[in-house]
Order: sequence, then C-alpha cells, then structure tokens
Amino acid sequence: MSPLSARLIVVSNRLPLALKREDGKWRFEAGSGGLVTAMGPVLKNRGGIWIGWPGNREPIELPLLRQILGPVSEESGYRLLPVILDEGEVENYYEGFANAAIWPLFHDLQTECLFHPRHWEAYGKVNGRFARVAARHSDREDLIWVHDYHLMHLALKLKERAVERRTAFFLHIPFPPPDIFLKLPWRYEVMEGLTAYDFVAFQTMRDRQNFQACLRAFWPSSRVRGRGPVVTVGRDEGDIVVGALPISIDFAHFEALARSPKAVQTCEELRKAHRGRKIFLGVDRLDYTKGILQRLEAYGRLLEGQETLRESVVFIQILVPSREGVEAYSRLRDEIERAVSRINGRYATTGWTPLSFFFRSLPSDELAGFYRAADVAVVTPLRDGMNLVAKEYCACNTDGDGVLVLSEFAGAAGQLAKGALLVNPHDVEGLARTLVAACDMAREEREKRMIRLRRAVRRQDIFWWVDNFLRAAAGRALRDFPPDDL
Ligand code: G6P
Repeated sequence: MSPLSARLIVVSNRLPLALKREDGKWRFEAGSGGLVTAMGPVLKNRGGIWIGWPGNREPIELPLLRQILGPVSEESGYRLLPVILDEGEVENYYEGFANAAIWPLFHDLQTECLFHPRHWEAYGKVNGRFARVAARHSDREDLIWVHDYHLMHLALKLKERAVERRTAFFLHIPFPPPDIFLKLPWRYEVMEGLTAYDFVAFQTMRDRQNFQACLRAFWPSSRVRGRGPVVTVGRDEGDIVVGALPISIDFAHFEALARSPKAVQTCEELRKAHRGRKIFLGVDRLDYTKGILQRLEAYGRLLEGQETLRESVVFIQILVPSREGVEAYSRLRDEIERAVSRINGRYATTGWTPLSFFFRSLPSDELAGFYRAADVAVVTPLRDGMNLVAKEYCACNTDGDGVLVLSEFAGAAGQLAKGALLVNPHDVEGLARTLVAACDMAREEREKRMIRLRRAVRRQDIFWWVDNFLRAAAGRALRDFPPDDL
C-alpha cells in the first residue's frame, strides 16, 4: 500500500491532550493546536493511532488511564495510546536532554545548554519505549510519522530491533549549522538516529541545508540528487529523502474565531479601554528563544526617545507559562517581571499604563479578539522553527489593516517577508525604530501588506502542509508548492 493511503501512526512527545490531577481527581484538557486540527481528519479517514505522553507527572495506573482515554478516542475517531513516563524520565529525557540540551543548541543559544550523560541515557531509553509501543500497534503497511526533537532516535530503535516499518520525521524546531551542531557530545549518535528515517523534513530550506551540511561532515561522500523542496541524499550507507515544508495553521478556523461573539466583544473592550492609542501585541510561550527581554528593551527605548508617542501607545504582552521545571525558564520569568515593572514604574501616568502583562493562556476565541484589536503584532524570536503566532495574527486580522513586525530569524519570515516588517531582534535600536515605523504606516500601505500576508497564510495552510508531507513521504510530486516562497 502506498504511504499516501497507508494507515497512519502519529508519534509525538505529547498526546493531543493534557492530563492533570486536581483535588485528587484526574481530568484532562483536549489539545487545540494546529497539528491536532490537521491530523484529526486524516487519522479518522485512514484509520490511525496517536501515540504520546499524556503530560502527567504524578503516577497513574494504566487501566485508569485507558479508562479515561477510551471515550476520548471514540469521540475523536482515532485511538490515543499513552506512553507513561516516570518522574526521573520527565527530568532526564524531557526537561534534560530534550529541553536543556537539544532545544537551546538547535536555537543557537549554546550558553543555555546542559550536556549530561544521564540525560542522554534517558533519551535513548524513552525513545526505545515509544518505538516499542509504535511497533506493537503497527504493521509493515503503515506509515509511522514522528514529530519533533524529543524522538529523533525512534526509527533507529525500530531498526535495532529489526522491526521493518516505513518511517517519516518532521522537525518543528530549527536545525543548526555544523559549527553549532558539532558541539553536541552525542552528535554522531543523533545524526545516525535521523538518518534511520526514510524521510526527514524541516521547516525551511535553511534548516534542510544545515542538515545536509552536517551529513557531509560525517559522510563526506554523500551527494544530493534532485532539486526543489524535496531531494534525495545518496550515501554508501543508504539514501535518505530530505524536505523543507513550512508548517502552518488552519486559516479558516482562525478567521472564524476572529468573527466569534467572544472575539468581537474582547476586541471592542480592548479598543474602548485603549481608545486613541496604537496597540502593540506580543503573544508567546514564556521561552528564552522568543526574544521577550530584547522586545521589552526596544519598547523602553521607544518610550525614552519618542516623548510624543508616550500615552498614545500601549503594549499588551501575553506570556503562556512553559517548562517551569527547567531552571532557565523560571529565571527568565523573574527577569521579565523586573523589566515590566521597570518600564511601568518609569513611564506610567495616572491615566496610562504603558505595558499590560498577562501571565497565562487565554481561550482561543478571546485570544482571537486580542489579535483583532492589535494594530501591530510584535513577533520577534531570536530563533524559531516557524512561529505560528505570526500566522494566527494574519488569519485573525479580518479588518485587514494590521501590521506584522517579524523577526528575520523566525521560519515564518520565508513565506511572510513580502508583507511583514522584518527585524533583527538583537538590534534593539533598530527594533524600536521599526515599532515607530509600524505606528506611522499609512492605511493604504498597511492594507496592501496585509492582503499579501493573508493570501500567503490562506494558500499554504495546515491542510496543504499535511497533504504535501504525506505526498513527499510517498515519493509523489508536491501540490501548489511555489519553491520561491521558501
Ligand atoms: C514547541 C515544540 C513542540 C512542543 C511545544 C510546547 O513548539 O516544537 O514540540 O510541544 O513547544 O512545549 P512543551 O515542552 O510544553 O511540549
């Protein structure tokens, strides 16, 4: 059976739900990310399974977990299979190797890296467990589609057990160039793991080329065959197909959310509260890759240097707590809180607070209202695989005159360069100047740019991405794929 119609086994670190224990009772929240929206119908139509960790840290009995997941599987139309991690594995595999070694290294932030043999050992062990579950619940006809940096070793673990399966891998985060990647003590092992997949895809052409350069570092005789977003790298040890396929969002869903009653109400309330002021908006997971401190510093410079703009702008920053067990994240939270109170303490007046700060996630319809109300979205990660906030803002900008300020180091910059104002997030002065330019931009120019942005996100949405990934994995030509948009 061709992988285009094969049953799909999706494997990711997290299941598309979060299991929590509150007041002694287990409950779960359904996942709402773009990946769930896009994979749901495919898994339902072809039949399939989603394998992952339900996110719990406290131990839960497997029969009880199955009892909880049963009805969810029934409702979603595909099976959810849990992989249980114990406390030590959460610490060493998830918080350790995945989030304190690979995450900072691949985002070019080596000073945050912690390399520990205990973490690496747990990574191998947990990848082995995911592989065993995938092997047990699949057969040779299926396609096993593995997501992200937590599971780079899964295909190798299958091969070591002589389990023959078709495997494909998508890396959601950037892939670094050799001078960064080669710092990893387990660099050869990670490359060996990735080359065990039949198909490996990245967000952008730059990531794919970095990967190819690393391949050449270990296998100097490897040669690229073909052209375009998907090529084959020939090696004596076996060929590997590599691709560059930028992930996206469900455009229609976000556009509809922006028109929902809750979004309309939120948008009206925000506009009323900040009448006569330009609204800047930042929405991020609290993460040191997102350039939040640099962004706040730039806003501080703007207020410092542009006295006339004071009281006629406001910056709303939404920060979603994340990975609180990793030390770098709790340190960053303190630093951000200090920066926010410095700015507000210095510039606030009786009728105006320059920075409005939310430290929590918001329901998606309410968030759509924030997107809709914002005159300028400020998306300035130091490095990012794609950044879906940039795309969500465009989809929710139904009034069509918002401005997107976007880091040139976000994967999204490739597709959105023609409509966004691109910035170098390390250049704080330059960023402050761009924020002023965004405030001053004429309506006609804003509309022209937003038309381009919305068209790009609408045309290449999450369904386009899933379809093309599966086509590439099956060796078929891509559909509606303008290579020059990368
Ligand atoms: C990034 C990663 C995802 C991850 C998400 C949330 O987007 O690419 O794989 O799921 O962050 O992080 P968390 O550690 O909470 O799963």
